Amino acid sequence: MCGIVALIGSREAAPQLLEGLRHLEYRGYDSAGIATVALAAGATGGGQLHCLKAEGKLINLTARYEALGAPGQCGIGHTRWATHGKPEERNAHPHLDGSGRLAVVQNGIIENHRSLREELQAEGVTFLSDTDTEVIPHLIARRLGLLQAADQATDAALLLRAVQDVLPLLQGAYALAVVWAEVPSGLVVARKQAPLLIGLGEGEFLCASDTPALAGFTRTILPMEDGEVALLTPLGIELYDAQGARVQRSPSLLSGTEHVADKRSFRHFMLKEIHEQPETAALWVARHLPEDGPLPSPEGLSLVALPLDEEVYENVERIQILACGTSRHAAQVGAHLLEQLAGIPTSVYYASEFRYSPPPLVPHMLTIGVTQSGETADTLAALAMEQERRQLMADPAFAPKLLGITNRPESSLGRLVPHLLDIGAGIEVGVAATKTFLGQLLAFYGLAVAFAERRGHGSGGPDPQRLRALVAELRGLPALLQQLVESHDQRCADLAHLFAETQDVIFLGRGINYPIAMEGALKLKEISYIHAEGYPAGEMKHGPIALLDARVPVVSIAVPGTVFEKVLSNAQEAKARDAQLIGVAPACPDTEQLFDLLLPLPEVDELLSPLLTVIPMQLLSYHIAAHRGLDVDQPRNLAKSVTVE
Ligand code: M6R
Repeated sequence: MCGIVALIGSREAAPQLLEGLRHLEYRGYDSAGIATVALAAGATGGGQLHCLKAEGKLINLTARYEALGAPGQCGIGHTRWATHGKPEERNAHPHLDGSGRLAVVQNGIIENHRSLREELQAEGVTFLSDTDTEVIPHLIARRLGLLQAADQATDAALLLRAVQDVLPLLQGAYALAVVWAEVPSGLVVARKQAPLLIGLGEGEFLCASDTPALAGFTRTILPMEDGEVALLTPLGIELYDAQGARVQRSPSLLSGTEHVADKRSFRHFMLKEIHEQPETAALWVARHLPEDGPLPSPEGLSLVALPLDEEVYENVERIQILACGTSRHAAQVGAHLLEQLAGIPTSVYYASEFRYSPPPLVPHMLTIGVTQSGETADTLAALAMEQERRQLMADPAFAPKLLGITNRPESSLGRLVPHLLDIGAGIEVGVAATKTFLGQLLAFYGLAVAFAERRGHGSGGPDPQRLRALVAELRGLPALLQQLVESHDQRCADLAHLFAETQDVIFLGRGINYPIAMEGALKLKEISYIHAEGYPAGEMKHGPIALLDARVPVVSIAVPGTVFEKVLSNAQEAKARDAQLIGVAPACPDTEQLFDLLLPLPEVDELLSPLLTVIPMQLLSYHIAAHRGLDVDQPRNLAKSVTVE
């Protein structure tokens, strides 16, 4: 959460800082601010600090900048997702030291900020905000005072030294940037368990929390590693590790997928991204499903081509998947596939729970982390913890085997795990995940087929004919999706007004579509603020059915297969309680008679149905929120990338 930028070069910094923040706004939009350092007129050494902040979205800060300006060729910026302190201007970053000459922006959480604050207050420091971050400028200023008193020259190296001395005092995860009016031609950045990348331009450097802020500036980047600190001047980058040793590392190139997205003719990014799903599927099919090959056999594994080392598949007896939010719902569909298709016992955990109550270690485990952003703090920490505890085991059967599934291969996840599946969905701007969810599902279909092929029929894997039929249907997915997105867009738009007064919605699904019911509920909650629950349809009678009456619509996913009749019966039970029934089901006499409203689906193999049933879920949520006039792409209280615990 929160996005930070920092720029140093030979042109005015503020416009580029604001542009960088525009591309980081998905990380938080409670407030924004910048601080620049300009050479004071006639001054020989130090400069002047200019700090602007505004509550709310970046547009408010931009208006303030246009009215007041912020001169200087060196500066830092921040877009905030509130953790400590309300989303008010006084809690907006940058935060300053007591002299108002040193400014800091931070993304993360300083866990020991209370004790540090008390210590500083006891020394006479006055705090102006409720944030954890504000301790940092005061600590750096205190250290600078001591170093200056010891006759150290006032230059960029002194600022670097002071920051390096203060960092060990900070507990938690952070990425931060510091400017000091005394050194208008230098700034310091540092990171610990929060992302930070340096972009190398022509005689200028732009540092940012994420690649979209860099994409229009440069393609040459230097991702900072955990614990690193860097001094940026117009002359170059000095990079140091956590122990203060100088680090030399070559920059890399941003991949082609990092281009900044635009909305095209769509009203919201979310709608555009829903409409991009046929393309997401077509790209995936083209990359990973080679043309019809021979029947799978131990010698000729042919149905799916994933860019993974064979080692990933070897000696896997169990799989555990760690993820949060929508990624976790994709993981639940994945677990169903890995168990039902490949016969591998698979468990899914909330990453935030796994970190503090991991299950006992078992041998031959593949651990999969799923995160579209590759930056979700809980998922990264859970994976790192699993890696560490397995590395301590002497028995090689317990050795860590970690695979990541992400849309951002250059992210922290990409640097943490040795094996990676890139879903290649292209940048997703809407806070509500849509096309990346589909991409994650497809990654799991590929993985489950690949495992099933290797295990072979008879040892837990399915009949090769069945696998082959599934893959053939997957090839037809892009066309089905195209048809479904187009037909349901208008249908869901037409239904949206029916939910104008709705306060609660229940989503029901069973088997492989239970996670899709949960995903439908999550989508509706996050963008329309309507209370919604996703439930396994068969569980309703064990309690939640008490909630139902004519005011609570029930969305029921019913696809032909193992549980079709059961789901229809469960829907019938809801109808008997006067609930308005919306069916996501194929049109047939049974469904047309049962459901008050039908969002019809083409018939596919039940195992593939989540790839289709999710589309009406996304479109229904989108249109309900849009009809209510809500900020669909930037819903309240949320951020696209949750980089705090
Ligand atoms: O980047 P990740 O996939 O790790 O994000 C996990 C969740 O924060 C995310 O899926 C969240 O639930 C979305 N806003 C859902 O639309």
